[in-house]
Amino acid sequence: MEPLASAAACGKVILFGEHAVVYRRPALAVPLTQVQATATIEPGEAGITIDAPDLNQSVSLDRASPASPLAAIVRLTLAHLQRQPDTLRLKITINSTVPIASGLGSGAAVSTAIVRALAQWAQATLDEATVSTLVFEVEKLHHGTPSGIDNTVIAYQQSVYFVRDEPIQLFNVATPFTVVIGNTGVAGSTKVAVSDVRKGWEADRAQYEAWFDQIGAIVQQARSAIESGAIDQLGPLMDQNQALLRHINVSGPELERLIAAAKGAGAAGAKLVGGGRGGNMIALVTEQNVTAVSAALKDAGAVSLIVTEIS
Ligand code: MEV
Repeated sequence: MEPLASAAACGKVILFGEHAVVYRRPALAVPLTQVQATATIEPGEAGITIDAPDLNQSVSLDRASPASPLAAIVRLTLAHLQRQPDTLRLKITINSTVPIASGLGSGAAVSTAIVRALAQWAQATLDEATVSTLVFEVEKLHHGTPSGIDNTVIAYQQSVYFVRDEPIQLFNVATPFTVVIGNTGVAGSTKVAVSDVRKGWEADRAQYEAWFDQIGAIVQQARSAIESGAIDQLGPLMDQNQALLRHINVSGPELERLIAAAKGAGAAGAKLVGGGRGGNMIALVTEQNVTAVSAALKDAGAVSLIVTEIS
Protein backbone atom coordinates (compact mmCIF):
# COMPACT_ATOMS: atom_id res chain seq x y z
CA MET A 1 0.00 0.00 0.00
CA GLU A 2 1.17 3.52 -0.80
CA PRO A 3 2.26 5.36 2.36
CA LEU A 4 0.31 8.48 3.32
CA ALA A 5 3.56 10.47 3.27
CA SER A 6 7.30 9.94 3.20
CA ALA A 7 10.21 12.37 3.55
CA ALA A 8 13.97 12.28 4.07
CA ALA A 9 16.71 14.42 5.61
CA CYS A 10 20.50 14.31 5.23
CA GLY A 11 23.30 14.21 7.82
CA LYS A 12 25.91 16.91 8.35
CA VAL A 13 29.63 17.41 8.90
CA ILE A 14 31.15 20.27 10.88
CA LEU A 15 34.31 21.23 8.99
CA PHE A 16 35.53 23.68 11.64
CA GLY A 17 34.34 25.13 14.95
CA GLU A 18 32.35 22.49 16.90
CA HIS A 19 31.93 23.12 20.64
CA ALA A 20 33.19 26.73 20.45
CA VAL A 21 29.99 27.35 18.43
CA VAL A 22 27.98 26.69 21.60
CA TYR A 23 29.83 29.74 23.04
CA ARG A 24 28.87 31.99 20.10
CA ARG A 25 31.99 31.51 18.00
CA PRO A 26 31.37 30.78 14.30
CA ALA A 27 31.47 27.30 12.74
CA LEU A 28 31.41 25.93 9.20
CA ALA A 29 29.23 22.95 8.41
CA VAL A 30 28.06 21.16 5.28
CA PRO A 31 25.20 18.76 4.53
CA LEU A 32 26.16 15.11 4.07
CA THR A 33 23.77 13.56 1.55
CA GLN A 34 25.44 10.11 1.53
CA VAL A 35 23.60 9.38 4.77
CA GLN A 36 19.86 9.89 5.19
CA ALA A 37 17.02 9.50 7.65
CA THR A 38 13.57 8.72 6.22
CA ALA A 39 10.17 8.98 7.90
CA THR A 40 7.23 7.11 6.37
CA ILE A 41 3.64 7.57 7.54
CA GLU A 42 1.01 4.88 7.08
CA PRO A 43 -2.46 4.37 8.52
CA GLY A 44 -2.14 3.00 12.08
CA GLU A 45 -4.33 0.74 14.19
CA ALA A 46 -4.48 2.67 17.43
CA GLY A 47 -3.13 6.11 18.28
CA ILE A 48 0.27 7.15 16.94
CA THR A 49 3.18 4.73 16.98
CA ILE A 50 6.76 5.54 16.02
CA ASP A 51 9.08 2.68 15.09
CA ALA A 52 12.75 3.34 14.53
CA PRO A 53 14.48 -0.04 14.15
CA ASP A 54 17.84 1.54 13.24
CA LEU A 55 17.74 3.51 16.50
CA ASN A 56 16.42 0.52 18.49
CA GLN A 57 13.38 2.53 19.52
CA SER A 58 9.66 2.00 19.34
CA VAL A 59 7.25 4.35 21.11
CA SER A 60 3.51 4.95 21.40
CA LEU A 61 2.83 8.65 21.59
CA ASP A 62 0.32 8.39 24.45
CA ARG A 63 2.74 6.38 26.64
CA ALA A 64 6.05 8.01 25.66
CA SER A 65 8.18 9.77 28.24
CA PRO A 66 8.48 13.57 27.89
CA ALA A 67 12.22 12.97 27.37
CA SER A 68 11.65 10.91 24.21
CA PRO A 69 12.95 12.97 21.26
CA LEU A 70 10.87 10.92 18.77
CA ALA A 71 7.63 11.57 20.64
CA ALA A 72 8.57 15.21 21.25
CA ILE A 73 9.11 16.05 17.59
CA VAL A 74 5.81 14.37 16.63
CA ARG A 75 3.90 16.26 19.37
CA LEU A 76 5.51 19.60 18.52
CA THR A 77 4.94 19.24 14.79
CA LEU A 78 1.30 18.16 15.19
CA ALA A 79 0.71 21.15 17.52
CA HIS A 80 2.26 23.43 14.93
CA LEU A 81 0.03 21.91 12.24
CA GLN A 82 -2.97 22.31 14.60
CA ARG A 83 -3.78 18.59 14.60
CA GLN A 84 -5.01 16.83 17.75
CA PRO A 85 -2.87 13.71 18.31
CA ASP A 86 -5.64 11.92 20.30
CA THR A 87 -7.88 11.73 17.24
CA LEU A 88 -5.24 10.24 14.92
CA ARG A 89 -4.20 6.70 13.98
CA LEU A 90 -0.80 6.81 12.37
CA LYS A 91 2.16 4.48 12.11
CA ILE A 92 5.39 6.40 11.61
CA THR A 93 8.45 4.36 10.60
CA ILE A 94 11.94 5.80 10.71
CA ASN A 95 14.82 4.33 8.74
CA SER A 96 18.20 5.95 9.05
CA THR A 97 21.64 5.38 7.62
CA VAL A 98 23.04 8.25 9.72
CA PRO A 99 25.03 6.44 12.43
CA ILE A 100 23.89 7.44 15.93
CA ALA A 101 26.20 9.13 18.47
CA SER A 102 28.72 9.67 15.71
CA GLY A 103 28.88 13.43 15.11
CA LEU A 104 26.97 13.32 11.82
CA GLY A 105 23.70 14.84 13.05
CA SER A 106 21.61 11.68 13.45
CA GLY A 107 19.18 13.25 15.95
CA ALA A 108 18.51 16.34 13.83
CA ALA A 109 18.22 14.25 10.64
CA VAL A 110 15.59 11.97 12.19
CA SER A 111 13.63 14.93 13.60
CA THR A 112 13.78 16.80 10.28
CA ALA A 113 12.52 13.78 8.34
CA ILE A 114 9.59 13.45 10.78
CA VAL A 115 8.66 17.15 10.52
CA ARG A 116 8.77 17.01 6.72
CA ALA A 117 6.72 13.81 6.53
CA LEU A 118 4.04 15.12 8.92
CA ALA A 119 3.84 18.39 6.97
CA GLN A 120 3.40 16.41 3.74
CA TRP A 121 0.72 14.25 5.38
CA ALA A 122 -1.13 17.41 6.54
CA GLN A 123 -0.67 18.97 3.08
CA ALA A 124 1.06 21.93 4.69
CA THR A 125 4.15 23.72 3.44
CA LEU A 126 6.69 24.50 6.14
CA ASP A 127 9.63 26.71 5.22
CA GLU A 128 13.18 25.76 6.25
CA ALA A 129 13.22 28.24 9.13
CA THR A 130 10.10 26.66 10.66
CA VAL A 131 11.46 23.14 10.24
CA SER A 132 14.74 24.22 11.82
CA THR A 133 12.97 25.87 14.79
CA LEU A 134 10.85 22.78 15.49
CA VAL A 135 13.90 20.50 15.29
CA PHE A 136 15.92 22.83 17.54
CA GLU A 137 13.38 22.35 20.36
CA VAL A 138 14.07 18.62 20.26
CA GLU A 139 17.83 19.09 19.89
CA LYS A 140 17.65 20.42 23.46
CA LEU A 141 16.56 16.92 24.57
CA HIS A 142 19.44 15.38 22.61
CA HIS A 143 22.19 17.84 23.50
CA GLY A 144 21.17 19.90 26.54
CA THR A 145 22.48 23.27 25.31
CA PRO A 146 22.73 22.97 21.51
CA SER A 147 24.02 25.82 19.40
CA GLY A 148 21.46 25.13 16.68
CA ILE A 149 24.03 24.28 14.01
CA ASP A 150 22.82 20.71 13.35
CA ASN A 151 19.16 21.62 12.80
CA THR A 152 20.16 24.60 10.65
CA VAL A 153 22.46 22.74 8.25
CA ILE A 154 20.08 19.79 7.97
CA ALA A 155 16.80 21.72 7.65
CA TYR A 156 18.26 24.11 5.04
CA GLN A 157 20.48 21.42 3.47
CA GLN A 158 23.03 24.12 2.70
CA SER A 159 26.67 24.80 3.61
CA VAL A 160 26.54 27.36 6.40
CA TYR A 161 28.76 29.73 8.30
CA PHE A 162 26.86 29.58 11.55
CA VAL A 163 26.87 31.86 14.57
CA ARG A 164 24.42 31.04 17.33
CA ASP A 165 21.32 33.28 17.39
CA GLU A 166 22.41 35.15 14.26
CA PRO A 167 20.86 34.89 10.79
CA ILE A 168 22.53 32.08 8.83
CA GLN A 169 25.11 32.89 6.18
CA LEU A 170 25.79 30.54 3.31
CA PHE A 171 29.36 30.08 2.12
CA ASN A 172 30.71 29.32 -1.32
CA VAL A 173 33.35 26.76 -2.16
CA ALA A 174 35.62 28.29 -4.81
CA THR A 175 37.57 25.09 -5.49
CA PRO A 176 35.96 21.75 -4.54
CA PHE A 177 37.99 19.59 -2.15
CA THR A 178 37.68 16.01 -0.91
CA VAL A 179 37.49 14.67 2.61
CA VAL A 180 37.42 11.12 3.93
CA ILE A 181 35.11 10.67 6.91
CA GLY A 182 36.21 7.80 9.14
CA ASN A 183 33.96 6.25 11.78
CA THR A 184 35.68 5.04 14.97
CA GLY A 185 32.68 2.81 15.69
CA VAL A 186 32.75 4.12 19.25
CA ALA A 187 29.64 5.97 20.45
CA GLY A 188 30.34 9.52 21.54
CA SER A 189 27.54 11.24 23.45
CA THR A 190 27.34 14.87 22.32
CA LYS A 191 25.29 15.65 25.41
CA VAL A 192 28.02 14.39 27.73
CA ALA A 193 30.82 16.06 25.74
CA VAL A 194 28.98 19.41 25.66
CA SER A 195 28.26 19.19 29.38
CA ASP A 196 31.90 18.29 30.20
CA VAL A 197 33.13 21.27 28.17
CA ARG A 198 30.76 23.46 30.19
CA LYS A 199 32.23 22.11 33.43
CA GLY A 200 35.73 22.90 32.16
CA TRP A 201 34.61 26.39 31.11
CA GLU A 202 32.99 27.01 34.50
CA ALA A 203 36.19 25.94 36.27
CA ASP A 204 38.50 28.13 34.13
CA ARG A 205 36.56 30.60 32.02
CA ALA A 206 39.57 32.69 30.95
CA GLN A 207 41.42 29.69 29.52
CA TYR A 208 38.37 28.24 27.74
CA GLU A 209 37.36 31.61 26.32
CA ALA A 210 40.89 31.99 24.93
CA TRP A 211 40.69 28.55 23.32
CA PHE A 212 37.24 29.32 21.89
CA ASP A 213 38.61 32.60 20.46
CA GLN A 214 41.41 30.64 18.78
CA ILE A 215 38.89 28.21 17.29
CA GLY A 216 36.80 31.17 16.08
CA ALA A 217 39.86 32.68 14.38
CA ILE A 218 40.58 29.33 12.65
CA VAL A 219 37.00 29.24 11.37
CA GLN A 220 37.37 32.74 9.87
CA GLN A 221 40.63 31.76 8.16
CA ALA A 222 39.08 28.52 6.90
CA ARG A 223 36.10 30.38 5.46
CA SER A 224 38.40 32.78 3.59
CA ALA A 225 40.52 29.88 2.35
CA ILE A 226 37.46 27.94 1.13
CA GLU A 227 35.92 31.01 -0.51
CA SER A 228 39.16 31.93 -2.27
CA GLY A 229 40.16 28.41 -3.31
CA ALA A 230 43.27 28.34 -1.05
CA ILE A 231 42.74 24.65 -0.25
CA ASP A 232 46.40 24.18 0.78
CA GLN A 233 45.66 26.26 3.89
CA LEU A 234 42.88 23.95 5.09
CA GLY A 235 45.04 21.02 6.24
CA PRO A 236 47.09 23.02 8.77
CA LEU A 237 43.89 24.75 9.95
CA MET A 238 42.26 21.36 10.57
CA ASP A 239 45.29 20.28 12.61
CA GLN A 240 45.19 23.49 14.65
CA ASN A 241 41.46 23.06 15.27
CA GLN A 242 42.07 19.47 16.39
CA ALA A 243 44.83 20.59 18.80
CA LEU A 244 42.33 22.95 20.46
CA LEU A 245 39.66 20.22 20.57
CA ARG A 246 42.23 18.12 22.47
CA HIS A 247 42.75 20.99 24.92
CA ILE A 248 39.03 21.13 25.68
CA ASN A 249 39.15 17.35 26.14
CA VAL A 250 36.68 16.15 23.52
CA SER A 251 39.02 13.92 21.52
CA GLY A 252 39.61 10.29 22.44
CA PRO A 253 42.05 7.42 21.78
CA GLU A 254 40.15 5.94 18.83
CA LEU A 255 39.81 9.35 17.17
CA GLU A 256 43.51 10.04 17.73
CA ARG A 257 44.45 6.68 16.23
CA LEU A 258 42.46 7.41 13.05
CA ILE A 259 43.74 10.99 12.82
CA ALA A 260 47.36 9.82 13.15
CA ALA A 261 46.80 7.09 10.55
CA ALA A 262 45.30 9.55 8.05
CA LYS A 263 48.14 12.02 8.56
CA GLY A 264 50.71 9.23 8.32
CA ALA A 265 49.27 8.23 4.93
CA GLY A 266 49.56 11.76 3.58
CA ALA A 267 46.35 13.61 4.55
CA ALA A 268 47.06 17.35 4.69
CA GLY A 269 45.06 17.69 7.92
CA ALA A 270 42.58 15.80 10.07
CA LYS A 271 40.22 16.45 12.95
CA LEU A 272 37.25 15.02 14.80
CA VAL A 273 33.75 16.13 13.75
CA GLY A 274 30.77 16.99 15.96
CA GLY A 275 30.62 16.21 19.65
CA GLY A 276 33.74 14.02 19.68
CA ARG A 277 34.99 11.46 22.26
CA GLY A 278 34.09 8.84 19.63
CA GLY A 279 32.13 9.08 16.40
CA ASN A 280 33.74 10.33 13.22
CA MET A 281 36.81 12.22 12.06
CA ILE A 282 37.59 13.85 8.71
CA ALA A 283 40.82 13.98 6.76
CA LEU A 284 41.61 16.33 3.88
CA VAL A 285 42.80 14.29 0.90
CA THR A 286 43.79 14.63 -2.74
CA GLU A 287 43.16 12.41 -5.74
CA GLN A 288 46.74 11.13 -5.25
CA ASN A 289 46.44 10.06 -1.60
CA VAL A 290 42.73 9.26 -1.11
CA THR A 291 43.28 5.52 -1.61
CA ALA A 292 46.26 5.34 0.74
CA VAL A 293 44.49 7.42 3.43
CA SER A 294 41.35 5.27 3.16
CA ALA A 295 43.41 2.07 3.48
CA ALA A 296 45.32 3.46 6.48
CA LEU A 297 42.04 4.42 8.19
CA LYS A 298 40.66 0.90 7.65
CA ASP A 299 43.89 -0.63 9.02
CA ALA A 300 43.66 1.65 12.06
CA GLY A 301 40.17 0.35 12.84
CA ALA A 302 37.70 2.62 11.03
CA VAL A 303 34.41 0.72 10.86
CA SER A 304 33.13 2.69 7.86
CA LEU A 305 34.39 5.39 5.52
CA ILE A 306 32.66 8.01 3.40
CA VAL A 307 34.62 9.84 0.73
CA THR A 308 32.89 13.06 -0.23
CA GLU A 309 33.60 16.12 -2.30
CA ILE A 310 32.80 19.46 -0.67
CA SER A 311 31.65 21.73 -3.46
C1 MEV B 1 27.34 18.88 17.58
O1 MEV B 1 27.11 18.45 16.25
C2 MEV B 1 28.13 20.14 17.59
C3 MEV B 1 28.46 20.70 18.96
O2 MEV B 1 29.15 21.94 18.72
C4 MEV B 1 27.23 20.93 19.79
C5 MEV B 1 26.35 22.05 19.25
O3 MEV B 1 26.81 22.92 18.51
O4 MEV B 1 25.18 22.07 19.64
C6 MEV B 1 29.40 19.78 19.72
